[in-house]
Amino acid sequence: MNERLLIVEDEETLGESLKRVLTKDGYEVDAVNSAESALKRAEGIAYDLIITDIILPGIDGIELLRRLKMKFPEQIVIIITAYASIETAVGSLRAGAYDYVIKPIIHEEIKRIVGNALRERALLAENVILRKQVEERYDFEKIVGESRAITSLIDEVKKISNSRSNVLLLGETGTGKELIARAVHYNSTREDKPFVPINCSAIPENLLESELFGYTKGAFTGATVSKRGLFEEANGGSVFLDEIGELSQQLQAKLLRVMDDYEIRPLGGLQARKVDIRFIAATNRDIAKNVQEGLFREDLFYRINVVTLRLPPLRERKEDIVILARHFLEKYSQELGKPVRFIDASAVDLLLDYQWPGNVRELQNIIERAVLIADSNTIFPEHLPEDLKKGHPYLPGTSDKPLSIENYTKTLILQYQGSCTEQHLAEMLGITRKALWEKRKKWGLKK
Ligand SMILES: Nc1ncnc2c1ncn2[C@@H]1O[C@H](COP(=O)(O)OP(=O)(O)OP(=O)(O)O)[C@@H](O)[C@H]1O
Ligand SMILES: [Mg+2]
Repeated sequence: MNERLLIVEDEETLGESLKRVLTKDGYEVDAVNSAESALKRAEGIAYDLIITDIILPGIDGIELLRRLKMKFPEQIVIIITAYASIETAVGSLRAGAYDYVIKPIIHEEIKRIVGNALRERALLAENVILRKQVEERYDFEKIVGESRAITSLIDEVKKISNSRSNVLLLGETGTGKELIARAVHYNSTREDKPFVPINCSAIPENLLESELFGYTKGAFTGATVSKRGLFEEANGGSVFLDEIGELSQQLQAKLLRVMDDYEIRPLGGLQARKVDIRFIAATNRDIAKNVQEGLFREDLFYRINVVTLRLPPLRERKEDIVILARHFLEKYSQELGKPVRFIDASAVDLLLDYQWPGNVRELQNIIERAVLIADSNTIFPEHLPEDLKKGHPYLPGTSDKPLSIENYTKTLILQYQGSCTEQHLAEMLGITRKALWEKRKKWGLKK
């Protein structure tokens, strides 16, 4: 459709000639001879651009400009002025005119100004649309997968993002809990406020409290200045409590208090401060069982578990394996600057047969390594780790010679330490992290 212009000009010959020139340039042009009729027209038709003379019978051009801008702030208006009233014309720019032209009007000039104005507007509109698309796709595009499990998870995230409800993410190691936590935050009204991830198992117990709540100067030896805690940093945004299952009883009690009244009290501070936080927690433990066994407070569990999102293990959504593998292939071939484009069919079979105890993270690591060592544009079985060719490592007996329990444990540690967390490795072996550490030390296994 042609762009539609309105000319407001009481000098008939000038109005006519402008109309002729601009029509010839491909615009659809209406002309009126007073501001009153221009206002009436503009009510019914969204003109792409309005050109008005300053001096008109009745309401003048500047007043018309003001009224138009009040009603339609985006309306583009160009002012026609006689040389004598050039100061008024400059003033009109301040009132929101796009530009002005001085009489006598040179046709080329008016055509150029009109063209520029409409082009700029089109660009602007395009930017707004682009920006909106980027925002909408933010983080969801990073979640790769087409299985029902993943698509319905994304739907659920979209549904709950905007509420303030606390969210509990459950899933094995490497299933994408942190990825989803970010998606919840960045698709909520809190997106402009901080997303503060806190790994409850990585910060030593005695430091965690001061990290979370902050402290005042002199609260303890070494507190030479006051420090804001992470909860206060996160005010207005979301706190991601990763591995919440690792939280000590003492800190569970303190966290419960925050969730009850949204107040925090820094160490050594007397005054409580209000905070507005949405909590997103994650764990790869069976936290309900921990509750039953008295290891995790039931009251706290109910407060964080308003919405539960379960992340399915990769072996339960095999249709995503190849999609994810291709996604990582593209990512790493780009990052590493190697044109590896294909995965050989027999390599795909191996990926599909494997049980993926380290889930997406393990797949990601394996593809990165494969791209690194590939010597052509294709990944072949020889570029994949031995474990994939041996089948499920949980089932002993698939390897060449029988292993003692000790050797089996050692093999597992070596196989998995790169691709899963300490915690998960320990769980897989059915031992504590401390025991895992001791075994490593005894056998001289480096991380
Ligand atoms: N659906 C997915 N699409 C793309 N990348 C994914 C997907 N799921 C996970 N990843 C990637 O896998 C890696 C592990 O994900 P993430 O850190 O979110 O897992 P996690 O569940 O928090 O693991 P852990 O319990 O070990 O902390 C990240 O690099 C993440 O970007
Ligand atoms: Mg994580």
